Amino acid sequence: MILIKKIADLQNLLQSCRAGGHTVGFVPTMGALHQGHLALVESSKAACEKTVCSIFVNPTQFTNRLDFEKYPISIEKDIDLLEEAGCDVLFLPVVQEMYPANEAVERYELGYLEDILEGKYRPGHFQGVCQIVDKLLSVTKPHCLFIGQKDYQQCMVIQKMISLKKLPVALQICETLREPNGLAMSSRNLRLSEEEKSQAAVLIQTLRTIQRDLKRGNVQNLLQEAHNSLTSAGFEVDYVAIASAQNLLPVTDWDGEVKCVALVAATLNSVRLIDNILLN
Ligand code: PAF
Repeated sequence: MILIKKIADLQNLLQSCRAGGHTVGFVPTMGALHQGHLALVESSKAACEKTVCSIFVNPTQFTNRLDFEKYPISIEKDIDLLEEAGCDVLFLPVVQEMYPANEAVERYELGYLEDILEGKYRPGHFQGVCQIVDKLLSVTKPHCLFIGQKDYQQCMVIQKMISLKKLPVALQICETLREPNGLAMSSRNLRLSEEEKSQAAVLIQTLRTIQRDLKRGNVQNLLQEAHNSLTSAGFEVDYVAIASAQNLLPVTDWDGEVKCVALVAATLNSVRLIDNILLN
């Protein structure tokens, strides 16, 4: 695996890859890698001839400074994991490389997508995600971009940004990998004790109950019950919602037809977790 820190070096390398007719797959990450990230690398390797992964803890997408400072970092282990997974190139830039002091900050017209659900609790978060993903795409110019479904709203936001900027990249959304108890894999799980990890399985259990019980006319009851079970399990709930899988607008009265997704964000002992499940 080739390790690169400078944009210019990455551009040179990838330019010769593309000139040699190789397709490039890109997996952006913030490190603290787990099997979920490695599955993205695997998908990229299956679809493209060269796979580039980036590790960059992006300061502009953190609303809370403490959350940024506490973000887990395990770079040596990450490098070993990517090497074993057969990743071809690892891009490891520093902040000044991604955000040069004189560069204007772009604003993305994301509309309601950046104000609802995660956006409501993390103002500015999706602008930060777009800034960095846009920058990384402009540097790597991949044919395919691989992102996990666990961040459902992020996938929609990135798709919107790609459409707004007419970027020639295919977004591949890969399914969420889970622990044996169903807990969605996340770098934040590193901050949970073993006991908290067992407790956190309530998130997916609650989503699966919604999936099992969704009927016409019972959305409000389902959401109230879901909220209650999360609270009883010790979670502080930001939201539990049913939304259109297509555009994320809230579904308050299901017609039995529209494709839906249930989404949750809740905090367990100061660790904020999110998850989602497609319902039909
Ligand atoms: O999902 C993440 O890890 C981050 O939001 C991403 C896409 C790497 C951008 O920093």
